Amino acid sequence: MLAVAILAAGKGTRMKSALPKVLQPLAGSTLVERVLASADSLQPQRRLLIVGHQAERVEQSLAHLQGLEFVVQQPQNGTGHAVQQLLPELKGFSGELLVLNGDVPLLRAESIAQLLSKHRSSGADVTLLTARLEDPTGYGRVIADGDGKVSAIVEHRDCSEEQRLNTLTNAGIYCFNWKALAEVLPKLSTDNDQGELYLTDTVAMLPKAMHVEVADADEVTGINDRRQLALCESMLQERLKEHWLMEGVTFTDPASCTLSEGCSFGRDVVIEPQTHLRGRCQIGDGCRLGPGTLVEDAVLGERVRVIHSVVREARVGSDVAVGPFAHLRPGSDVADHCRIGNFVELKQSQLGEGSKVNHLSYIGDADLGRDVNVGAGTIIANYDGVRKHRTSIGDRSKTGANSVLVAPIVLGSEVTVGAGSTLTKDVPNGALALGRSKQLIKEGWSGLKGAVQQKPTQD
Ligand code: UD1
Ligand code: CA
Repeated sequence: MLAVAILAAGKGTRMKSALPKVLQPLAGSTLVERVLASADSLQPQRRLLIVGHQAERVEQSLAHLQGLEFVVQQPQNGTGHAVQQLLPELKGFSGELLVLNGDVPLLRAESIAQLLSKHRSSGADVTLLTARLEDPTGYGRVIADGDGKVSAIVEHRDCSEEQRLNTLTNAGIYCFNWKALAEVLPKLSTDNDQGELYLTDTVAMLPKAMHVEVADADEVTGINDRRQLALCESMLQERLKEHWLMEGVTFTDPASCTLSEGCSFGRDVVIEPQTHLRGRCQIGDGCRLGPGTLVEDAVLGERVRVIHSVVREARVGSDVAVGPFAHLRPGSDVADHCRIGNFVELKQSQLGEGSKVNHLSYIGDADLGRDVNVGAGTIIANYDGVRKHRTSIGDRSKTGANSVLVAPIVLGSEVTVGAGSTLTKDVPNGALALGRSKQLIKEGWSGLKGAVQQKPTQD
């Protein structure tokens, strides 16, 4: 039996943030989500999250996850105190308890699996993950012998000068034999610099403690301040881009681009400089994104070209060109072979295959058929000041430049709208609609004006 407990009750004072530390974002998900994901591959029987500081907010952010048990630690009197809260929860439990610090987000599932298998084969009461760090400042130092046996962990602030030279650090990832831990947990004391109950003190109290050194020390970087958050973000970005480079994605300037873990790419995708993909994105074969583009929670078909544009919560078919300077807002659904040009905004709108909105338009709450040509400066007036209304335009219709379509309105198929029209009434199939004042010509106007302005002659 395996239970996993994640320590996520701390405030994260050093972040200097209104947001609890474990909810800080990293490459599109929160620290705690990452830690949970790294443990999930072990398929534990129980998953317990220890919450305290802004507990409700942390719980809410994870409400979508099933089978997660929240245990409240109030007040937060240290990592040992946090795990003490599990005593009633895990009464009668026999098996291993994997404890993960909620602020160690780069840990790989394989490293946890290794820790678990070492723990099982050595029969230790506790096995912890360690790392040799060039700069171990702030981390607990692990006192161990050459056979991997650990005698104690001393927190940085409680270390002697000599102990500080020890570069073997505690990663904050432990596998305990729960029964043995439950025996010693009540005996923890606050006899340390912070006056807290330290989980790390249990290591010296248990008969057999072992450690496993992680191969890649970057994995166990803990996040206490924004400097470390930025460091982890850049390490994670590097990992992600390296992965996709190996999968056949071209980045012309990888350093200027960012990705989230929820992104997937087809073959021969080119990501040009200053392009950012966030949330869940699915990018098809042969797409070319950027320069200067933001894509968030969007699905793009094949060979889509997006330049200097923003695409959010939208779906785009194949062979579509977007931009420069287009904005596809949530609910945009663009079919194959469409063209969305300069300074065009789309929102909650569908475009049928082959339709074009090339210049300076707002298309909101509208359904456009196939091969519709939206003239430059066409605006859909979807909002009457109280409510939004929908507009529908049939196949092969055309709107002239500077048309205003006042919703709700239905234009049939093969409709032509004269340039500069403001339409408030539905238009049947095949009709020409003009909604503008007739052109007036006054011949000789300039001469006439000249005559009026002439000063009267005095005689
Ligand atoms: C801890 C370890 C240190 C290790 C480092 C690795 C202890 C005493 N020290 O130090 O040896 O090198 O992690 O990153 O454990 N938390 C609670 N309740 C509390 C206090 C903390 O749930 O009362 C949670 C925090 O939200 C955080 C985690 O425990 O996710 C670690 O706490 P933190 O204060 O960051 O410990 P460190 O000083 O980094
Ligand atoms: Ca920490």
